[in-house]
Amino acid sequence: ANDGYKLWLDYQPIENSTLKDEVGELMNGIYLFDQGPTFEIIQSELSLASEKMLGASIDFKKINREKSLLWIGTREQLLPFLSASLESEIKNLGEEGYWMGMIESDGAKHFTIVGNQPVGTLYGVFNFLQNIQKGTFDKNTLISDYPKVKIRMLNHWDNLDRTVERGYAGFSIWDWHKLPEYIDPKYKDYARANASIGINAVSLTNVNANALVLTTDFMKKVKVLADLFRPYGIKVYLTARFSAPMEIGGLETADPLDPEVQSFWQKKTDEIYSFIPDFGGYLVKANSEGQPGPHEFGRDHSQGANMLAEALAPHGGLLIWRAFVYSHEVDEDRHKQANLEFIPLDGNFRDNVILQVKNGAIDFQPREPFHPLFGAMKETQVGMEFQITQEYLGQATQLVFLAPMWEEVLKSKTFRPTANSTVSEIIQTPVSPRQVTLMAGVSNIGNERNWTGHLFAQANWFAFGKQAWNPEINSDQISEDWIKLTFGQTQELVSKINQIMLPSHEAAVNYMTPLGLHHIMGRGHHYGPGPWVTGGRADWTSLYYHRADSLGIGFDRTSSGSNALSQYAPEIANNWSNTSQIPEKYLLWFHHVPWDFKMKSGKTLWKEIALHYDQGVKSVAEMQNIWASLENDLDAERWDHVNQLLAVQRTEAEWWRNACLLYFQTFSQRPFPAEIEQPA
Ligand code: GCU
Repeated sequence: ANDGYKLWLDYQPIENSTLKDEVGELMNGIYLFDQGPTFEIIQSELSLASEKMLGASIDFKKINREKSLLWIGTREQLLPFLSASLESEIKNLGEEGYWMGMIESDGAKHFTIVGNQPVGTLYGVFNFLQNIQKGTFDKNTLISDYPKVKIRMLNHWDNLDRTVERGYAGFSIWDWHKLPEYIDPKYKDYARANASIGINAVSLTNVNANALVLTTDFMKKVKVLADLFRPYGIKVYLTARFSAPMEIGGLETADPLDPEVQSFWQKKTDEIYSFIPDFGGYLVKANSEGQPGPHEFGRDHSQGANMLAEALAPHGGLLIWRAFVYSHEVDEDRHKQANLEFIPLDGNFRDNVILQVKNGAIDFQPREPFHPLFGAMKETQVGMEFQITQEYLGQATQLVFLAPMWEEVLKSKTFRPTANSTVSEIIQTPVSPRQVTLMAGVSNIGNERNWTGHLFAQANWFAFGKQAWNPEINSDQISEDWIKLTFGQTQELVSKINQIMLPSHEAAVNYMTPLGLHHIMGRGHHYGPGPWVTGGRADWTSLYYHRADSLGIGFDRTSSGSNALSQYAPEIANNWSNTSQIPEKYLLWFHHVPWDFKMKSGKTLWKEIALHYDQGVKSVAEMQNIWASLENDLDAERWDHVNQLLAVQRTEAEWWRNACLLYFQTFSQRPFPAEIEQPA
C-alpha cells in the first residue's frame, strides 16, 4: 500500500545496474568526519537510503578513512585535503552551501560531500540521494550549490486548538495538548521533509494570533519542537499578537511607545530565548482584518514593528511584519492599501525588520499581477509571502501545481529599483549587509496520512522549498524532479504526469477567473464560484471586483478609475494603461472593457471569456484522460486517490464555468459562442 506518507523521500531500488554498482561501491564505505546531531541525521538518512535503494545496510564503524570512497564532513574538518582554491570556493558558498566532487589524497580518490556547516552538508547529502533517485547521479560531475534566499520559511496558520485556518488537510500536526511530554514521531518526519528541500524556518502558529502561545506553558512546548528541528537546520518563529501585553501581561494598553509595554515585550522575549537560544523571532499581522495593532494607539506600523524588533535585537532575532493590511477604515481600492500605508514609512524600520508582502495586492487569487510594493520600498527589506495551501485554488479537491504561478510572479519585471529589476532579484537582495532575505509560504500541511490532502499538493510544498532555495528555477525542472522522486523515473511516466501538472494552473485560472477576473469565489470559505455574492462591505462582494454591467466587465484601475496602476513603475503603468498593450491575462484586473471589445484573437471579449471558461473544463478533461492512461503504471492506491479527485475537479470546473457564464450572461445579453457546449 502507498498512502503517500513518505512524500518524495520514499527511496526506491535502483534499477539501472551500472548506477547501482557505482552507488553500491560508494555507499559501502562511507566515512563521516563528524558525530554531531546533524551528522546523526545524515547517518540515518544514508542508512535508510542504502537499505531501500541497494538492499544493503551500511556499517559506519567498519570503514577507515583512507579506504573510504565516500567522505562526508564540513569544510573545517576536510581542510587538510582541500587545495587553497577549492577551500575558498567552498567558503564562498556561505553557511548553508555545499560542494561535492572527487578529492585526491595519497593517490586515492574519494567522492566528497562537504558543507561549510553541518546543515550545508546535510543539504548536500539530500541532493546526492535525490540525484541517485532521479537517475542523474554521476560521481565525476562537480556540484556546488547554496540557497539564494536566507530565510525559507513555512507559515503555519495553525490555531492552538488544532484547527487550521485555510487548512484542507485535516487538523494541525502540532499536538499542543500532549506537548511537551509526548513527542509525536511525525515531528521528525516533518523536519526531515523540510530539510530535504532546504526549508530552514517555520512559524508554528496562525497569523490571526492567540497570545497564549507566548505564555510560559506554551514556551515549554515550543522548546521541544525547536530542539527537535535544530539539527535539521530549522529555526522556530511564533506569531505575536499585538495586544498580548493586555491579554497575558495585565496591562491596560499595548501602545508601543509605553515603557511598560516595551518592558513586557523585552521580558517576554528574553524568556523565550532562555528556552530557545536560537529562536527566530516574531511574525506579526497587525491592523488587518480586525487584528490588533499600533493604529489603535495612534502609532504607525513602523513604531509597532520597531518596538518588537528592539526586544529581539539583543538576541539576534527578526521581526517579520506583514504588509497584508486590509482594514475597514481605508476608503480606497483595496489594491492600493499596502502601498499607501507602507511607502510613507520606508526608511523608518529597524534593520532586523522584514516586511512580508503577499505575491499580489489582493489576496492569493488564482492569478495576480505582482504586488506593487516590490520595487517600491527602497530602504526596507521586503520578503515574499506565497500561499501553498489552496485557499482560492480548489482547496484539497483540485490538482493545481503552483510553481508556474510563483515563477510568473518571481520573474516579473518591476523596473525598480533598476531598469532590469525583477521580483526575484528584489527578494534575493539584502537592502544592507545587515539585512537578510526571506521567502515564506503558507503551509498546506495537516494531520492527514498524506500530509496535504491531495497527493499532488505535496508537489506544491516541494516546489515552494525549491523556489525559495533558488527563485530562478524553472517550474518544469521542479515538476520533473518531484515526479521522479514520487512516482519513478520512466520517461513516459514523467512526461505524462508533467503534461498534467504544468498546464494545471492555467486550467484553474481559465475555469475560475480568466483574463484578470478575481475574487468571485463563494463568500467566506472561498470554495466554488460566487460572482453573485452581495451584502456587507463593498469589498466583500464579488461585484466590487468584477463590476459587470450592461456595457462590459472588469475593474478600472487606470487613471479614469482607482488609478492603482500608478503604484507600479511608469514603464508598467503606461504600458498596462492601454487595453491593447496590457497582457490579456491581466486585462480585467485593470480595465473595465466593453463586451464587444476586440481581443488579440479577433474575437469579442464576451466570446473570449466564454471560450476561456470552456477551455478550463477541457483541460481538466485532458488531465483525466492522461491520468486514466497511467492506471497500469502506478500503484492502485495512489492512482485511485488522484483519479477520484480528478473527477471531482471536473465537476467543479464545470460548476465554475456554468455558474460564471450564466451569471455574466445576464449582463452581457449575448449568446454563447457556437463552439462551446451550452452551460446548463
Ligand atoms: C486571507 C485569508 C484569511 C487570512 C488572511 C491573511 O484573507 O482568507 O483567512 O487570515 O488572508 O493572510 O492574514
